[in-house]
Amino acid sequence: MTIASVPRHRSGSDVSPLLTLADFAQHARGELPSDVWDFIAGGAGRERTLVANEAAFETVRLRPRALPGVEEADTSVRVLGTRWDAPVGIAPVAYHELAHPDGELATARAAGSLGLPLVVSTFASRRLEEVAAAAAAPLWLQLYCFRDEATTLDLARRAAASGYQALVLTTDTPFTGRRLRDLRNGFRIPDHITPANLGATAAVGAAAPGAHSRLLFDRCADWSTVARLRAESGLPVLAKGVLTACDAEAAVDAGVAGIVVSNHGGRQLDGAPATLEVLPEVVAAVRGRCPVLLDGGIRTGADILVALALGARAVFVGRPALYALAVDGESGVHRMLALLTEELAETMVLTGHATPDTVGPDVLLPPRGPYPDWSQG
Ligand code: FNR
Repeated sequence: MTIASVPRHRSGSDVSPLLTLADFAQHARGELPSDVWDFIAGGAGRERTLVANEAAFETVRLRPRALPGVEEADTSVRVLGTRWDAPVGIAPVAYHELAHPDGELATARAAGSLGLPLVVSTFASRRLEEVAAAAAAPLWLQLYCFRDEATTLDLARRAAASGYQALVLTTDTPFTGRRLRDLRNGFRIPDHITPANLGATAAVGAAAPGAHSRLLFDRCADWSTVARLRAESGLPVLAKGVLTACDAEAAVDAGVAGIVVSNHGGRQLDGAPATLEVLPEVVAAVRGRCPVLLDGGIRTGADILVALALGARAVFVGRPALYALAVDGESGVHRMLALLTEELAETMVLTGHATPDTVGPDVLLPPRGPYPDWSQG
């Protein structure tokens, strides 16, 4: 899809083009009930980390190439042996039905039609088997450490049986962060939307995500979970929520197949650094022993390039997927992902890269100088 062909979205009497992911967010805000908007858009505490994720990309400057000589950029990459048509996928986000009645089926179809992956959340509103049947997208399943480990292991087995390619263990959530917007709104997941993959015990009380997680999640879970998940499912296991060199070491020692640098979109520890800020630290600690991926604040194709330049193999978007679903279901998500891919391809050409494999730190202007001292002129 070219920018010129990006359709316009009609919301009431307002007709404006969807040219950026920010446009999708703005339109989604008009479509969603305000408490649902707050649940999706909000973060923990004072939302410092939420804001920092996007702000980190704002400070980066890219170095263009003169006469770059790249006719067309090929955005495809290989991740855990599978080709993705671009280094971007959809992060695990609970309850896609909050944004559109087709829920995860629409998201999976959109991602699959573009050759991009979807990480299905443990708190998906559709059964993981149904999602797998709906689409040819590379699917991963995200897991939490439940106090009742049988619940976690059962999900892992079901994922393997349904053709999911990997498991993503979320490691930053001993309980749900203090999300003040939801507390102020008294937010509850509407009754008709349920965690379709969880049995009755785990699903009870799921409508109030904060309180629920304090009962269900195992705060004492440790890295040995990785080996049990792998043994149970035969699938590679990635760790999501790693922000330090020390945890990256622990994850690699535990045998993870990959690390997702993530602060849960600023929804857990408020004051945690922006993911982009700590990406170099994690990449350095991993020393190429497994791929490092990143989510948090990715809103343009240029943001993807910046993450690649600092060592990410690929990235994920979370909120933008729900905004696009709210705007126009499957076709909205398709348009959003196509837009990101097209922006990435353009940024690659302008910086002189025909493939993501050649993108490195030289594409970034160092944050501090060496700037000429104009005062001496
Ligand atoms: C999330 N995220 C999340 N992560 C996870 O591991 N399991 C989950 O069920 C959810 N659910 C969820 C719901 C909502 C509404 C949001 C916004 C986020 C976090 C998600 O995977 C990802 O880390 C962030 O969303 C990435 O940041 P951006 O792209 O939203 O800025």
